[in-house]
Amino acid sequence: MTESVNKSRRNLLLSTSAVGVVGAGFAAVPFLKSWLPSERAKAAGGPVKADISKIEPGQMINILWRGQPVFIVNRTDEQIGVLESLNDRLKDPQSESAIEPEYVGNIYRSRKENLFVVIGICTHLGCSPKFYPDLVPQQFDSEWKGGFFCPCHSSRFDISGRVFSGSPASRNLDVPPYMFLDDNTIVIGLDQEKA
Ligand code: FES
Repeated sequence: MTESVNKSRRNLLLSTSAVGVVGAGFAAVPFLKSWLPSERAKAAGGPVKADISKIEPGQMINILWRGQPVFIVNRTDEQIGVLESLNDRLKDPQSESAIEPEYVGNIYRSRKENLFVVIGICTHLGCSPKFYPDLVPQQFDSEWKGGFFCPCHSSRFDISGRVFSGSPASRNLDVPPYMFLDDNTIVIGLDQEKA
């Protein structure tokens, strides 16, 4: 594991520690990380629930968590199917320097393959990237395969939030902690097994 990875993990821990950490064995059992909102976290905005049952394939909803937009995308099989083929065009295809929970450490960057959750803030200077889901050529990319485009300085991200080479953003989009309460309900800002 590189220095930058350690730094990213550390940043993630720092950013999520505001909601409070409960229980021991954090390092040994990363999938059972437990978070409960502290008073400080509640003031900053605690976990938020969202109904994901009505997001059609290829669609995205946008919710607010701690004052920042969180994008939830129901990716199609076609969108997922091209991810591997994009690796050579990306700065960090394996998300080694990304800020994300350990359980999303794959090219899908998600707990469920189709459902992608990401903080909708460009990692360059903080604009909100726009969603371009279709796998069709765009003015900003003639080989576009779906993803996010930041209009401020033209950073491009694939549908896993991985940044393309040539973009001013240096890091993939950040993934927040999250968990599913059931098939229809997601909680952002919490990633224990029970809310
Ligand atoms: S803020 Fe997104 S590219 Fe600069």
